[in-house]
Amino acid sequence: MHTQVAIIGAGPAGLLLSHLLHLDGIESVLLERQSRAHVEARIRAGVLEQGTVDLLTQTGLGDRLKREGLVHHGIELSFSGARHRIDMSELTGGRTITVYGQHEVVKDLISARLAAGGDIRFDIADVSLEGIDTDRPAVRFNEAGASREISCDFIGGCDGFHGICRQSVPAADLSLFERVYPFGWIGILVEAPPVSDELIYARHEDGFALFSMRSPQLARLYVQCDPQDDIADWPDERIWEALHRRLKSGGDRQLAEGPVLEKVIAAMRSFVAEPMRHGRLFLAGDAAHIVPPTGAKGMNLAIADVHVLSRALSSHFKRGASEGLENYSATCLRRVWKAQRFSWQMTSMLHKIPGGSPFEERVQFAELDHVTSSRAAARALAENYVGTPFE
Ligand code: FAD
Ligand code: DHB
Repeated sequence: MHTQVAIIGAGPAGLLLSHLLHLDGIESVLLERQSRAHVEARIRAGVLEQGTVDLLTQTGLGDRLKREGLVHHGIELSFSGARHRIDMSELTGGRTITVYGQHEVVKDLISARLAAGGDIRFDIADVSLEGIDTDRPAVRFNEAGASREISCDFIGGCDGFHGICRQSVPAADLSLFERVYPFGWIGILVEAPPVSDELIYARHEDGFALFSMRSPQLARLYVQCDPQDDIADWPDERIWEALHRRLKSGGDRQLAEGPVLEKVIAAMRSFVAEPMRHGRLFLAGDAAHIVPPTGAKGMNLAIADVHVLSRALSSHFKRGASEGLENYSATCLRRVWKAQRFSWQMTSMLHKIPGGSPFEERVQFAELDHVTSSRAAARALAENYVGTPFE
């Protein structure tokens, strides 16, 4: 069997790539290790940049997003016992973010692909890449116990941070940049009304906390934890106690408790693999880079990458133009490094750094004071939060 683009991984990157290629008349086969039910239930990111919303809307994926997505015009920063609003829309000429869960984006993409007759294969095992340095690469895999091979013109490596695509590139041909942070997050999804109409990022003396939401009835909350902690170290009572203390400042509403529907623990790292192309393999999304979640950039970067890649592949198949493919890595990395810088800034500014010196702590509070008192600094934060332009 042959296809134009074999795509590994049905996260936001792989699914959107297959959708964008389909709109340009390019065939793909998408191979996913997990079941459809698993990827549709995986709770992850929740904030869509304006550019992400525009792209999804322009490509026919905006119906439910428009109905159910919550448009936000600002965020709150909480520190030293008070809340400060960053009016993102006013600071960025009317741009907004939309709160809409990543798994909802994934559900919308899967149903659009299947309605269009797209070839998505779930529950696939033992994927390996062959001949990525040649003009005719192939993907081998196991489907329902049978070995299969698909030859293709290109491979979209969209299989996330732990996938096999990046590992298929010879180590000598990749430069890796990494920072691991000395803290993690515990996240809960809770059936409870919101404590605020907007997200609250809190820097408390005990550590970071974040209030977010998924709907008017569902809150998403995070607290800073030790990266070595186990989820069992954080019974619900300990999480609630931390949240009440850290989110107390300002506001007229009490943080409401409710049934905890889901609980996760996540470590934090910044990571970039360069270049994002090797021969006929193109890495996109978490397969190529990871950001700490404080800037809400992970899924948005994945979407921006495949936007660039789909255009480059279209130019190749329609006009034989290779420039887009040649520039793919450099084009994406410009945006990736800006998001890395911003995610690192938000992470460094808002967390309690274990073993951090009093000097570092004073600098953190000076930075919080700066972004909430200087219009220029607030505007720089807002511009990055709503998202730098798609190329
Ligand atoms: P993924 O969504 O990881 O998709 C990769 C897909 O490839 C998966 O479906 C996987 O099953 C599949 N796969 C992997 N290996 C193989 C293989 N060998 N063969 C076939 N298929 C394979 N970002 C934020 O901005 N805010 C957040 O709160 C946030 N929370 C997160 C919580 C967790 C637990 C994690 C892991 C990530 C979180 N992120 C968050 C990051 C964000 O969710 C990612 O940046 C986003 O999922 C990237 O999309 P992707 O398509 O590149 O990769
Ligand atoms: C959410 C996650 C984030 O990492 C963030 O910065 C904002 C919101 C969320 O899950 O809603």
